[in-house]
Amino acid sequence: MAALPEILPDLLDALRAARHVAVLTGSGISAESGVPTFRDAQTGLWAKYRPEELATPEAFRRNPRLVWEWYEWRRGLVAKAAPNPGHLALAELERRVPRFTLITQNVDGLHQQAGSRNVIELHGNLRRTKCFDESRVVDTWPATDDVPPRCPRCGGLLRPDVVWFGEALPQSALAAAIEAAQTCDLFFAIGTSALVQPAASLPFQAIQRGAMTVEINADATPLTPRVTHALRGSAGEVLPALLKALTPYPLS
Ligand code: OAD
Repeated sequence: MAALPEILPDLLDALRAARHVAVLTGSGISAESGVPTFRDAQTGLWAKYRPEELATPEAFRRNPRLVWEWYEWRRGLVAKAAPNPGHLALAELERRVPRFTLITQNVDGLHQQAGSRNVIELHGNLRRTKCFDESRVVDTWPATDDVPPRCPRCGGLLRPDVVWFGEALPQSALAAAIEAAQTCDLFFAIGTSALVQPAASLPFQAIQRGAMTVEINADATPLTPRVTHALRGSAGEVLPALLKALTPYPLS
């Protein structure tokens, strides 16, 4: 097992003094819960498709059954998954700082399941369904053999309530994420390849405003050379280690 990266005292001091901590997470934080990252090779039946070819409105128009079934498979993986120590450490960190904003690109809901409260979902949530034509969230629909099922209101096709390539992000979520990036004193980018816009611009906005920035990632990314601290390692190990370093002598 790789050694844990060193957590320097100035990071701990900044964390203790921070009035507002903002965190951006990507699919890397859920990897240790058994949810494959977006760019990881797909397995089984889905190995021959690239996610970028399935997660688009064009793909859905062309073959709604294929796209629906792919999300059914992903929903199944998420339903079996539980939050890992990385998710739990972020939920604990939220309790220890005056203001904490967790911005996630993940659609798996595992941060909320871990107990995080102030979560901004930039790319929607896989567990919700909406009407393709009307964009309204649909909670239930009559049992049917149709794949995908149809909207009980307008008869349009149902789709997952996630943001696909080429679609706009939910406006209020994006505005709240930008506000957090621009006003925090400390910004963490965790388990994200920092490639997909506009989320990828958030750490750069924090850097511009003078926040200390910290990356936690298993590999280097385009962000690595720009952050104050790059902690190379798995989120499920580094985040609990950070919490422990923050409180070396917990009260019993
Ligand atoms: P990616 O799959 O692009 O990147 C995952 C990142 O996590 C990589 O940089 C890995 O090095 C890192 N990683 C993997 N395992 C890790 C671990 N255990 N601990 C820490 N880091 C680890 O995923 P995202 O950056 O989330 O959007 O991708 C962003 C968006 O691209 C996704 O939300 C999705 C995709 O297009 C949409 O579906 C709209």
